[in-house]
Amino acid sequence: MTVPKLALSENSEAALSKTRADVVVIGTLQGEDGLTLAAGSEAVNAAFDGKLADVLSTLGASGKAEETVKVPTLGKLSSGVVLAVGLGKPGTDGVISAEQVRRASGAAARALSGTAHAFSTLSAIDLHAAVEGTALGAYVFTEYRSEPGTAPLSKVDFATPAEGAAKDHRATLKAATLIAESVIIARDLINTPPNDLYPASFAERARKLAEANGLEFEVLDEKALKRKGFGGILGVGAGSSRQPRLVRVAYKGPKAVKKIALVGKGITFDSGGISIKPAANMDHMTSDMSGAAAVLASVVLAAKLKYPLEVVAHIPLAENMPSGTSYRPGDVLSMYGGKTVEVLNTDAEGRLVLADAIVRAGEENPDYLIETATLTGAQLVALGNRTAGVMGSDEFRDRVAAAAQSTGEGGWAMPLPEELRADLDSRLADLANVTNHRWGGMLAAGIFLREFVPAGLQWAHVDIAGPSFNTGGPWGYTGKGGTGVPVRTIAAVLADIAANG
Ligand code: BES
Ligand code: MN
Ligand code: ZN
Repeated sequence: MTVPKLALSENSEAALSKTRADVVVIGTLQGEDGLTLAAGSEAVNAAFDGKLADVLSTLGASGKAEETVKVPTLGKLSSGVVLAVGLGKPGTDGVISAEQVRRASGAAARALSGTAHAFSTLSAIDLHAAVEGTALGAYVFTEYRSEPGTAPLSKVDFATPAEGAAKDHRATLKAATLIAESVIIARDLINTPPNDLYPASFAERARKLAEANGLEFEVLDEKALKRKGFGGILGVGAGSSRQPRLVRVAYKGPKAVKKIALVGKGITFDSGGISIKPAANMDHMTSDMSGAAAVLASVVLAAKLKYPLEVVAHIPLAENMPSGTSYRPGDVLSMYGGKTVEVLNTDAEGRLVLADAIVRAGEENPDYLIETATLTGAQLVALGNRTAGVMGSDEFRDRVAAAAQSTGEGGWAMPLPEELRADLDSRLADLANVTNHRWGGMLAAGIFLREFVPAGLQWAHVDIAGPSFNTGGPWGYTGKGGTGVPVRTIAAVLADIAANG
């Protein structure tokens, strides 16, 4: 799916008297004494003779976050409707955060479903956030519907912020549009069902994206994986008629200052294998390749934004299925690089494919490694469904967690308690793939992965089991299904490394 056509526009009474937009969006705030109008709404309010706040209050609006109220303009503007969207309470210093603008823009975009052309004044507060929130909130995945349904929002004009240079505003619009497009690349992949998206077809989609963006592309098929000894990926993929793959997509930027390896879990469907999952909600495991989707979208984004970095995505792809050819509890796998792992539970498959890919990534001596995966149900137990767990080497972990918070995607630093390592000891192999207890399951998975990370490498592991896939109702700029988390976090980390090393 694509983003609407996004452009900049003047925010004056004169401009609003002749805009061809069907709806004009304004922001409202939850003030101490009721609803107030946010910056950017001045021209619209003037057309309402300064009475817009009263009109909205009369209709029962309070300005609370994501509230939407439509008001007919009765000819006061050339647009027929004003859509007022709540930003919530301003911060103590009166500041409205980027995330407030993103969420309000997303809620407005969702409320505009069926509207072709909108004019948003939320960009007067924060252009970047308004563009991201609008483009992501407007996203719908209709690939598998036989009837077209309501037409998507196809064009949005953004009020140019009062301050700053026109050139900078154009650059901001461009960057935010590219970021939203990349999140949508990830969402589309996640939302594609597992009968159509399996290791080989994911690899082909990656090839097309790589070719379209001038990136290096390499894929190892099952024969190559066998030849090179990728025992983790082969073991997990053994039960499926859809053979596994390992994809490498690389971007080498002009004057690259640092090399960043990205690794993303690509289980195109996780049935649990022989340690099969319960039937309830097993369909959610169509999203078990969200990490893979995110790192693929991120390397494409790095190229589009022309970061002065080398970014290499490694994507292990397999389908975890029970069959007569499946790997079994009790099997010992010989992993890429030579370590052996005893499989005690075939449903702890993500760490096995990731281990192979991490060792492969480490061979290229990156400066940083960001790895992301829908790895554990324990992530949801610990942090809920909107906050990723961020583990890894202390300094880089904290940097990635801070980036996750700043983008609004959410992410929290979690420890790797040393005592859990002994619980992964195996009766016969170098280590077991699960502990003999269920405590700290997210952290135990992180401890397992750490065994495969080269010593001294700055490393972050981002468990996105919850935040990658929205099984509840839409909120802010997040609809049902694939969310694209953590593409914007990775983009923020890359921007940080490009600027600060
Ligand atoms: N893909 C799942 C984790 C998951 C669970 C993602 C729920 C999204 C929502 C993973 O492969 C898995 O099955 N993990 C097991 C590990 C356990 C066997 C140690 C889990 O968390 O139950
Ligand atoms: Mn599993
Ligand atoms: Zn899984």
